[in-house]
Amino acid sequence: MRLDKYLAEMSYGTRNEVKKIIRSGTVTINGVQAAKPETKVNELSDIVYIGDERVSYSQYVYYMLNKPAGCVSATKDNVHKTVIDLLKKNIGNNIRDDIFPAGRLDIDTEGLVLLTNDGVLAHMLLSPRRHVEKAYYLVADGIITDNGIKQLTEGIDIGDETLTLPAKAENIKVCSIEELGKDIQDIIKSQYNEEPSQTHEGKVYTSMELVLHEGRYHQVKRMAEAAGSRVLYLKRIRMGTLWLDKALLPGECRELSAEEVQQLRRTSG
Ligand code: URA
Repeated sequence: MRLDKYLAEMSYGTRNEVKKIIRSGTVTINGVQAAKPETKVNELSDIVYIGDERVSYSQYVYYMLNKPAGCVSATKDNVHKTVIDLLKKNIGNNIRDDIFPAGRLDIDTEGLVLLTNDGVLAHMLLSPRRHVEKAYYLVADGIITDNGIKQLTEGIDIGDETLTLPAKAENIKVCSIEELGKDIQDIIKSQYNEEPSQTHEGKVYTSMELVLHEGRYHQVKRMAEAAGSRVLYLKRIRMGTLWLDKALLPGECRELSAEEVQQLRRTSG
């Protein structure tokens, strides 16, 4: 890898800033001064210093993003903002070019997206054979009947070859719109094309946390429809042991701690 790219990826500055540092003659590779930005460095075996400071190379990076609605879980998109655009907004443009979202959320789904360049961990989290739990908070239209809940939890026909795997439905509440958070109220009202000031008198909604062990296409929305309702708001709150940090506003992200990464690795097999 080029030395300037390497130092920029290790957060020593923008590509232009690290070029200046390199040209100033303070960078050494294995004890030899490296004054050209294009000098090649082997990130795994070379010993790099900037002045007295050893540059330590981390092979993998891990960020959790609280994805807002309207943003796509892709690395590139010609129309919509991507999760990578948001990562850059949070931590700067000098991110490694191998980071990707480990699993997708629909454009209108909010919540936890893990951004990493660790393909092995991503595979462990997403592999259908490992059944790593994904937990969602959802608000559905009307009341989901006891029979609907039973089907959701025991396995429901969503038009695939097999029923869904058993899921857990927790904290089930039937509520009015006023009992939901203000942001969620606005999202729900916008789907009825109503003025935000209009009330939803007499209307009820079902909120719950649904814990799945698989990740089929539009799975939560299709499960809710098969149970006779419609998802109006959806947010992923957990993947395996990793909970969405409540301190993150939509669009914000933070790096995972070493402990969070270790726990994810352990529980994902
Ligand atoms: N299930 C869905 O229907 N959509 C998502 O974004 C995630 C799970």
